Amino acid sequence: MGKKLVFGDVMIGKEELQERVQQLGAQISKDYHGESILAICILKGAVLFMSDLVRAINTECKMDFMAVSSYGGSTKSSGVVRIIKDLDGSIEGENLLIIEDIIDSGLTLSYLKEVLQGRKPKSIRICTLLDKPERRVADIVPDYIGFTIENKFIVGYGLDYDQKYRNLPYISYLEEVEDSEEDDE
Ligand code: IMP
Ligand code: MG
Repeated sequence: MGKKLVFGDVMIGKEELQERVQQLGAQISKDYHGESILAICILKGAVLFMSDLVRAINTECKMDFMAVSSYGGSTKSSGVVRIIKDLDGSIEGENLLIIEDIIDSGLTLSYLKEVLQGRKPKSIRICTLLDKPERRVADIVPDYIGFTIENKFIVGYGLDYDQKYRNLPYISYLEEVEDSEEDDE
């Protein structure tokens, strides 16, 4: 008898997401006082969030993309971080805004921040759609947080389980249940 993963309820609906993204965009636009931003999307999870967020920012905003290793088919972090796709251009003198889908252990971002810091940007700030502070291992504090959430495995609006469910327009979560409970459905 194994366990299986099932969908939970909608955790953050489409309208709530869009409303919060607009607020974040307004806050970021205000904080940068018209200075140019280089938004860095951490692929693939942050791609939907980033594409909505940059449209809510009214200061000059360039975009670049970076991919690091993720969990694969597991719901637990391995702690191993690997750059799969690096940025296309130089970041020297730029105001970096790292856009992440979720901060869990914080290991990915603390590693990335260190790597990017070494390339002499003018500033680095972190904007995450979701924050799971309960599971934090690394000492990382995001500058902008969409929603602080409890410790659940999230899918939707860019976040995946085994590369699936990224296209859901809302945030949901997966729960582990006993496989023998199937008549409870
Ligand atoms: P961290 O290094 O533990 O902070 O994990 C960061 C990365 O793991 C995120 O960018 C996500 O890609 C992935 N991740 C962490 N938690 C979740 C989750 O609940 N659902 C989907 N992906 C997650
Ligand atoms: Mg990610």
